[in-house]
Amino acid sequence: MGYDAKLRVWRGDDEGGELKDFTVEVNEGEVVLDVIHRLQATQAPDLAVRWNCKAGKCGSCSAEVNGRPRLMCMTRMNTFTEQETVTVTPLRTFPVVRDLVTDVSFNYEKALEMPAFQPPAELKPGEYRMAQVDVERSQEFRKCIECFLCQNTCHVVRDHDENKPAFSGPRMFIRAAELDMHPLDAAENRKEFAQESQGLGMCNITKCCTEVCPEGIHITDNAIIPMKERVVDRKYDPLVWLGSKIFKR
Ligand code: SF4
Ligand code: F3S
Ligand code: FES
Repeated sequence: MGYDAKLRVWRGDDEGGELKDFTVEVNEGEVVLDVIHRLQATQAPDLAVRWNCKAGKCGSCSAEVNGRPRLMCMTRMNTFTEQETVTVTPLRTFPVVRDLVTDVSFNYEKALEMPAFQPPAELKPGEYRMAQVDVERSQEFRKCIECFLCQNTCHVVRDHDENKPAFSGPRMFIRAAELDMHPLDAAENRKEFAQESQGLGMCNITKCCTEVCPEGIHITDNAIIPMKERVVDRKYDPLVWLGSKIFKR
């Protein structure tokens, strides 16, 4: 059975804006993105919203629904009561372009800083071989859809623009871990790069990033903590330290 939902949507641009109230029809089985589209079609044709797949796979429709970072296309309206006002606001950590669309280029800039995969020089394309167990270890990280909900949620940069230059964020930490665990990656010092240039040390493992990941990636337990442990091993384990000195000679 359909009903009329109370919707509150942030409207504005980089100069400022406000929450506006609307009443929008909802039908059985619909998600927040359906209702936003109906609002656009019937009452607010200039409402800016980014989306693409409507299947939880492109990572475009990230927003905050009642203050929680969510994919709009994967948030069912029956999560809320019919009497409840559903408030939809843009991601808080990134600058607003207009309405529900934010400028997420911070994430692409951080991705560009990441040293690329570097296969051993002696191996030629076609000679790369990996054990299944190594493939499986990184498979989890490759499920990332780059929705940036984890980046938006992390308290290190949420409301702290001043930390952004020094902090790449959880999405980049899983990429760093994936490459670090890759048996054919010959790039040196990934852990040191993560610690010193990507701000791994600023993460205090609150796990909020893991809680909001729509792909269920264990960002903290499987990527961040193992990376932190290896940094510590390398920095403070006297044997590892001695070994690294000897082999560098
Ligand atoms: Fe989104 Fe999860 Fe990837 Fe973060 S790790 S960008 S929350 S899919
Ligand atoms: Fe931030 Fe996740 Fe660490 S939320 S503090 S990157 S565990
Ligand atoms: Fe693609 Fe929501 S529209 S993830």
